[in-house]
Order: sequence, then C-alpha cells, then structure tokens
Amino acid sequence: MQLLDELARRKSITKNRNLYPIPAEPERAYLVGVEVKGAIHPWRLEDSLAELAELARTAGVEVVGQTAQRLDEVNPATYVGKGKVEELKLLARQLNIDTFIFDDELSPAQQRNLEEELGTKVIDRTALILDIFAKHARTREGALQVELAQYIYRLPRLTRAWTHLARQVGGAAARGGPGGVGLRGPGETQLETDRRLIRQRITQLKKELEHVRSHRQQYRRHRKEQGMPVISLVGYTNAGKSTLLNTLTHAGVLATDMLFATLDPVTRRLILPGGKEALLTDTVGFIQKLPTQLVAAFRATLEEIGEADLILHIVDITHPNVREQVHTVEQVLREIGTANKPVLVALNKIDLLSDPRKAELVTTQFPNAVAISALYGQGLDNLLRQIERMLTQQMVQVRARVPYAASELVALFHRHGIVTQERHGQNGILIEGKLPPGLMGRFEPYLE
Ligand code: GTP
Repeated sequence: MQLLDELARRKSITKNRNLYPIPAEPERAYLVGVEVKGAIHPWRLEDSLAELAELARTAGVEVVGQTAQRLDEVNPATYVGKGKVEELKLLARQLNIDTFIFDDELSPAQQRNLEEELGTKVIDRTALILDIFAKHARTREGALQVELAQYIYRLPRLTRAWTHLARQVGGAAARGGPGGVGLRGPGETQLETDRRLIRQRITQLKKELEHVRSHRQQYRRHRKEQGMPVISLVGYTNAGKSTLLNTLTHAGVLATDMLFATLDPVTRRLILPGGKEALLTDTVGFIQKLPTQLVAAFRATLEEIGEADLILHIVDITHPNVREQVHTVEQVLREIGTANKPVLVALNKIDLLSDPRKAELVTTQFPNAVAISALYGQGLDNLLRQIERMLTQQMVQVRARVPYAASELVALFHRHGIVTQERHGQNGILIEGKLPPGLMGRFEPYLE
C-alpha cells in the first residue's frame, strides 16, 4: 500500500495533475475538523465538515466517518491533541482507513508527523481543493494556474519520499530550462535536487502564465473597443453558474453536480430583451477557506471580475448554508477589490422549493435580488430585464459630432447605446443619447 501510494504520488507529479490521484478502488477517508475556541468562525464546524465530505465525494473518495473537536489551541506538532491522535490511530485500523482529511490547512511538519503517527496518508482541505481544481481545469491558463498552485503547496512538503522526482519533473523542467536540470548538481542531495527542479518549474510556469495572460489582455482590449458590456457570473461552488450560462446562451458549457466543475472563464454572447448584446463570463466557483496558493495563482482571473460592468451573483437558495455561502462570496469579492461594482443577485433553484411563495419571501430578504430556476428557466425573463435595467442605469449621457469619415461610430452608438437625437449636418453627424461607459473613449475626440 505504502509503495503503491508512493508510486501514485510520483506519477501524479509527473503528470502535473493531481497531488493524490484516486486509485481504482475508492479511497476510504475519515474527516477531521477542529474549531479553536475564541477564534472567529463564519461557518459552523459541522457545516464545514459536511462541505468537506462533499468535496471528498467530488474527488471520488469514500467518506467512512468524521470527527469534530473544539480545542483551546492547535497542537503545533500534530494539529489535534495527543489523545485525538491515539483515537485516530485506532480508527485507522478498525475502519481500514487509507486517508485522513483535515478540514484546515496543515503545516508541512504537522502533515508529516501525522502521517508517521497514523501510518496512513494525511491530506488537508487545500490539497483536496487543488486536486479537484486540477481535474477540472479546462483551458490552458486554468491548467497552468492550478499546476503553479500545486507546486507552491508541494514545495515545503517535499520529503525523502520524493526521491527520483528528478527524472520525472526533470523532463518537464528541462524542456523550458537550460539543459541538464534533471541531473543532480555537485554535492547536492536528491531532496535538494527535487526542490531545485520544482523551483525551476515554478519559474517556468510563471513565465508561461505571463505569456497566456498578455494574449488574453489583448483579447480583452479588443473586446472593450467593440463596446459590449461584460457581465461576470460569480457564485459559491455548485450554485448553478454553468447551468445558467447554458440555459441563457445554449452555450453547451459543462454543468454537473460536482463542486468546481467550472474552473476557467467561459464567455458567451447574451441577447438582452431590447435586442442589445452583452457578454456573460462564467468564472471559478468560490468556497470558504479558499487556499491562498489558489487565490494567488488565480488572481488575474479573479481580477477580471473587477473589470466587468455588472456582477451577477448566483445563490443556491436551497442550500442549508445559503447565508454563509453568500457571506463567503461577498468577502472574496471585497478582497479582490470589486466592492464598488453593481451586483445583481439571482436566487437560484427555486423549482426545488416546496412552496413557491417561499421564493417571494426569500427574495424580500435579499435586496436587489431576483428568483430564478436556471435549470427550468423560471424567472429568466425577469432576470434579463433586471440586467438590462442595471446596464442602462450605468450609461452616460453623450453629445458628439462625428465626422463622416468616422461614421462607423454612429453605427456603434446605435448598437450599444440609446440614441435620442441624430442629425446629419455639413460638419458631420450630431448624435446624442446614452452610451455604456466603456465606449466613451472612442467618442472622446468628438464630444460637444
Ligand atoms: P462550479 O463549477 O462548482 O462553480 O458550479 P456551478 O455554479 O457552475 O454549478 P452548476 O451549474 O454546475 O450546477 C450545479 C448543480 O446544480 C448541477 O447538478 C445542476 O443541474 C444543479 N442546478 C443548477 N441550477 C439548478 C436549478 O435551477 N434547479 C435545480 N433543481 N438544479 C439546478
């Protein structure tokens, strides 16, 4: 088992996908949650563990039990106390457990000590989330971002168990770096070589990401010039973002009952009731205790949310932790600096509510919210009207005299703005009305 596990780990780093690939037989996992007394916990421990179980299920792991503990402080060596470690050791044998999954991030030393004490694999919420993200990365940028986050997480956790990594990562690193990186340097231990290789790979990944990003930036600039408003879909994982994107745009975007099915931004064109068009962008799902490595790696993707004209926050109204989920999403949005963006809240999955009147009741509790069923289409007309209304509210009054040589701007005004007056004179076309703020730059030279 140990050997298989070890081989699986080595294989995983070669493929740069999963930290802990799932064996053919579902892995038997036991969950461990800790609440430190006196610390602020926006989520109840039991709810957080229920979510961890869901994450484990998404990763293909069989959860055979869980334990929750309230501590005065965490043990720096083993996270949980001595007595708990003994209890877990016993459980490992009784229940034939392959893996313990801790609901909080363990320090590299804690993880190592626990693995030694318990004689099983020990992972934490971060590793699990990174693993799921790795499986669901669908674009090149997403895959690079996850790989980077995985290596950053992995680097301080390297132990002797990772020998021979050189040959495996070496191949990948050698392609981008100077020759011979797979070879051990003079006086270097295998572990040092492994660390060096991973650092090289991290540098290379950052470079590749830079490259991908500059392309995307060009694309965004181009998109902006076209003047189409951008709506960014955000939401807690599994809230129904992809389903909504599918239903609204028939985009064929992946929508499954698994956490983090969506990882990369997916953009589709949306026709609003008045005939105007907007772009709808699906982004990564949020989750509490989002690993810091991931936030860092996904920063560019997250920051794109800040460039949207409107944020559409999808909420699973049927989830028992709906308030906590909303709070988590709002917190992440604040952290990435989107506090001033207009937000429209869509309360999703109302088809699952036993009493339809409940939807109305819930709506009144959330200001500026509409109730929808992304799956069955209920409330989507209203949602689109609200989107249109909020985008129109943001438009700015403009009066410009456009020379005939630049008459394509008049067509642009008609397409994306609201024209109230248009007169053709000797010195050009006088046009007046409202425009999306993103298009103002194009009209700047001709403003009156
Ligand atoms: P992430 O990829 O984790 O960010 O998830 P997501 O927000 O994109 O969720 P997704 O659209 O994949 O939906 C998650 C699950 O909820 C799927 O099983 C959907 O079928 C289901 N779902 C989404 N919207 C509705 C709805 O309006 N009603 C019902 N009953 N189920 C829904």
